[in-house]
Amino acid sequence: MMTPKQIVDALDRYIIGQEEAKRAVAIALRNRYRRSCLSEELREEITPKNIIMLGPTGVGKTEIARRLAKLVDAPFIKVEATKFTEVGYVGKDVESMIRDLVEESIRLTKNIKMNEVKSAAEAATEARIVELLLPNAKKHRPPVNPLQYLLGSGTVQESEEPKQTEEEKEKTRSLREQTLGRLRAGLLENEIIEIEVEESSASPILAMGVDMDLGSVLGDMLPKKRKQKKMPVSQARPILMQQESEKRIDMDDVNRLALINAEQNGIIFLDEIDKIAGAANRGGADVSREGVQRDILPIVEGTTVSTKYGPIKTDFILFIGAGAFHVSKVSDLIPELQGRFPIRVTLKDLTEEDFYNILTQPDNAVTKQYAALLRPDNVNLSFTEDALREIAKYAFRANEQNENIGARRLHTVMENLLNDISFNANGQHPLIDVVIDGEYVDSHLDSEWTEDNIHKYIL
Ligand SMILES: Nc1ncnc2c1ncn2[C@@H]1O[C@H](COP(=O)(O)OP(=O)(O)OP(=O)(O)O)[C@@H](O)[C@H]1O
Ligand SMILES: [Mg+2]
Repeated sequence: MMTPKQIVDALDRYIIGQEEAKRAVAIALRNRYRRSCLSEELREEITPKNIIMLGPTGVGKTEIARRLAKLVDAPFIKVEATKFTEVGYVGKDVESMIRDLVEESIRLTKNIKMNEVKSAAEAATEARIVELLLPNAKKHRPPVNPLQYLLGSGTVQESEEPKQTEEEKEKTRSLREQTLGRLRAGLLENEIIEIEVEESSASPILAMGVDMDLGSVLGDMLPKKRKQKKMPVSQARPILMQQESEKRIDMDDVNRLALINAEQNGIIFLDEIDKIAGAANRGGADVSREGVQRDILPIVEGTTVSTKYGPIKTDFILFIGAGAFHVSKVSDLIPELQGRFPIRVTLKDLTEEDFYNILTQPDNAVTKQYAALLRPDNVNLSFTEDALREIAKYAFRANEQNENIGARRLHTVMENLLNDISFNANGQHPLIDVVIDGEYVDSHLDSEWTEDNIHKYIL
């Protein structure tokens, strides 16, 4: 289990600055481990200290929570608090977030189990494809006289399994080996085989537009239609792989483990929580906002929610609320809910220096993303120090002059900057080095790109 310091270090690889928020989530995560070391009696007394992240848009609130969950493979979902409506009204009920978390947990656990059986499933898939590629053995069986079925069991056995001579057996064996060799060499990818597939039967309930949750619950209970379908090997492989994997995992086991994992390690990111905080006496809308808060309260406090996989306790799920809190304040939330989010961290506006770092430092930095994206099209993209400073400066100014959209601005700026290169790169040329320098940024972000000046930057 990672220490808080290690967690912060790991988050540093993706998120620039925002130390306070990183520390808070790192402590919250470590506290879960600490709690798990305690006696059961004491453990039940200690529930997670939920966090509210306050801060403007695009400064890393969601990113921190998402990365945190990823670090420890915790089931994680993000929900908008504004999506919910009071019980009894049309809209999503708050318990659906717990059901979504369980679904996510099932997906995670199933992935892990699928990985465990991967090599076995791959071998079985290959064997099945080979069988399907062989000339159908059944066709060559001598036709069975129906009368034989009615006469004594001895003859039935004989006709079910026609005896192959040693020579025939040997022939099939070598054909099988030959086919396997050609399959492995990738020569049979376009051969057509017939496999059994499950048809996703559109449930009539979904069609009528009634609540989605109900539809998905019933959807699983409706009998699945199976039918034979012809397709090339390349297309059949993933389907067979799925079937072979599923055969090898115990879904009851998956469900049980996933439920525990969601209960003990789940993280729910409640976005736009500021939008359901309304100071009283401001008219009709506030009444329902407070209603939503009252509905959320028991879930955050700890209750049991029933899902189609079984009941789940919400006591130990970590909730991270987030919002800009421009209009409303945390103190506008109902007191009980405030009490359930005792940790408040404020994320700061990003500086020009932050932008510069965000452009280059994170493992998934946007400059690295573009470079990777263009490589298949034979473009070796790089940026001079100069250019990066210019982009950061430009993005920062754009945020000041227009709407402040935080680090998201970098994406739009980069998109504008590289639009023409993205459009023109087509892979039909030898590998070219494209170096973006300060001058390119200046001319490009300010004026239109012309055919003439691109050549200066293609070395
Ligand atoms: N401090 C940061 N370091 C690195 N990247 C960042 C940082 N802040 C934001 N980003 C990038 O900007 C994008 C938007 O950030 P994020 O989703 O965390 O915004 P947010 O704070 O949740 O905003 P909102 O209130 O609009 O939801 C992400 O793709 C993220 O990679
Ligand atoms: Mg967000």
